[in-house]
Amino acid sequence: MSAQIIDGRKIAAEIKAQVKVEAEAFWKRKGRKMGLAVILVGDDFASKIYVRNKISACNENCIRSFSYELPESTTEEELIELIQKLNCDDNVDGILVQLPLPPHIRQNVVLSHISANKDADGFLAENAGNLMLGNPSLNACTPCGIIELIRSTGVNLDGANAVVIGRSNIVGKPISLLLLENHATVTMCHSHTANFVNFSRHADILVVAVGKKGLITGEMVKQGAVVIDVGMNRKDGKLFGDVDFDSVSKVAGYITPVPGGVGPMTVAMLLKNIVKAALRLE
Ligand code: GUN
Repeated sequence: MSAQIIDGRKIAAEIKAQVKVEAEAFWKRKGRKMGLAVILVGDDFASKIYVRNKISACNENCIRSFSYELPESTTEEELIELIQKLNCDDNVDGILVQLPLPPHIRQNVVLSHISANKDADGFLAENAGNLMLGNPSLNACTPCGIIELIRSTGVNLDGANAVVIGRSNIVGKPISLLLLENHATVTMCHSHTANFVNFSRHADILVVAVGKKGLITGEMVKQGAVVIDVGMNRKDGKLFGDVDFDSVSKVAGYITPVPGGVGPMTVAMLLKNIVKAALRLE
């Protein structure tokens, strides 16, 4: 193996430690803790684990959490009513609605009711639009975490060839914009791209977020590249990335493992967003 492993757990722990310092200072200054409201609707197994991790991370880092676990039968109107109440609650700096929502609830309609200042996930049209325009905004957590992971390598993004595989609203599109903001030359590949390997082979930075176990193999990667694996594919109770670690780590310069790469960064950057939201409202 030649690639250096990018340790997401270690970098996330460093970010959380900085958050804790800022959150404690805020508590002293304001007489209240920063707060995150987390809304979970239904019984999705993976969502329950994600929500539990987010709440523990808040509690461990001096951020108050307000947890709402609602039944599958919750209506869109009831959910919007709760969001409107939280928008007006001065103890709540950030609001997160865990996705996916049950099929009878329209995700976009519900999310559009979150105040843009409290959009802890950075999923709202207003924040996504500000990211596109290069204005200050609350940005999606996983893409922000990816930028931190790339920065940790010391590899210069300015002028680098960055290839993003996947075009989701949560990862592919926002990470492409963040890479562009960092002056990379960005190519987006997706399910309709003719032969994405023609692009991935020339990538100095390769970000893979498609949800296909082991899609990327060693011969698809440029020697020395930074490879960021956003995949979280569960099989037989184990977690696998979109990158075939064994073959790619022989070629890449840096690689994120799954688990222990991008995953921990998402939670760390969520906490950073709460700090940003709380300080902006101060
Ligand atoms: N479901 C999967 N990932 C996420 C996330 O980052 N935020 C929310 N709200 N839901 C998710």
